[in-house]
Amino acid sequence: MQSPIRKRLLEAFTAAEGEFLSGQALADILQCSRTAVWKHMEELRKEGFEIEAIRKKGYRINKITDKVTENEIQLGLHTNVLGKVIHYVETVDSTQKVAHQLAQDGFPEGTIVIAEEQNHGRGRLMRQWHSPKASGIWMSVILRPNLPPFKAPQFTLITAAAVAQAIADTCYVKPEIKWPNDILLNGKKVTGILTELQAESDKINAIIIGIGINVNHTVEDFPKNLRSTATSLAIATGKKQLRAQIVQAILERLEAYYQLYIEKGFAPLKLLWENFEVSIGKKIIAHTIAGSISGIARGISEDGILKLEDEDGKIHEIYSADIEVQ
Ligand code: BTN
Repeated sequence: MQSPIRKRLLEAFTAAEGEFLSGQALADILQCSRTAVWKHMEELRKEGFEIEAIRKKGYRINKITDKVTENEIQLGLHTNVLGKVIHYVETVDSTQKVAHQLAQDGFPEGTIVIAEEQNHGRGRLMRQWHSPKASGIWMSVILRPNLPPFKAPQFTLITAAAVAQAIADTCYVKPEIKWPNDILLNGKKVTGILTELQAESDKINAIIIGIGINVNHTVEDFPKNLRSTATSLAIATGKKQLRAQIVQAILERLEAYYQLYIEKGFAPLKLLWENFEVSIGKKIIAHTIAGSISGIARGISEDGILKLEDEDGKIHEIYSADIEVQ
């Protein structure tokens, strides 16, 4: 994890919004010598940042790499809580597993775990999640809402709405959400969300939200069995995307939506989610562990449960399923 001085340095450049900062101004902010400032700038340069150093003007940082290190994410991040602690790893079995451990060890709300590659990325319903090196966003976020455990499914929908909006803002596309949390582009899955819980009977200790986004994959990067159902942001937009920028947009949106939820409850978030949703009002088949049910998706309840009306007009409440829109 980062030194406090490095963190303050990145915050200073974030606040400067692309303007130059003089060596003296930085030394004052960081309460260190100008030589120490220079050393920090050299370290950033070695990590791949493009640093402009101009006499009498000072320093300016230009981002050019496509990494998702702490530095890349925190430079330009406008949040108060989310992403203030970042645990970055090159390779990991699953960011969910690491985040669970950090949550148990008492890491604060907003901590994120992010990896370049996962060997055992996990998806919903005990599935594997394909997470190849440096082409996607494989990230877990720790939240600690003061709420009872039955509210947890709402966080899946809040996150789906935040991620869909962040993708729309950064990639200029309109994603679609398929209940509960698959995000699609051109009918193919680009993002999956996995919400897990550490709780006592009446109180959430931590929610671990896993977000997997296929960003710069080519068609060939997907295993053959996924090619007809999965896509990436690069395939859908026709150009490579900067992962750190998307991570920042997600953290900023998620923080805003989380705040809105704490202040106003689920109703406004339900509307934001519905803005991207595509299965409501359509004929669907819900594949659940108990079997498949077909009918019309009538909407979601306040708890995020899907209401499905079958041919006989009977309403089924679906808690967990794979949805096929017909
Ligand atoms: C799904 O099945 O749609 C959910 C996929 C969630 C994948 C993400 S990638 C980051 C985090 N770590 C994991 O092992 N899984 C989640």
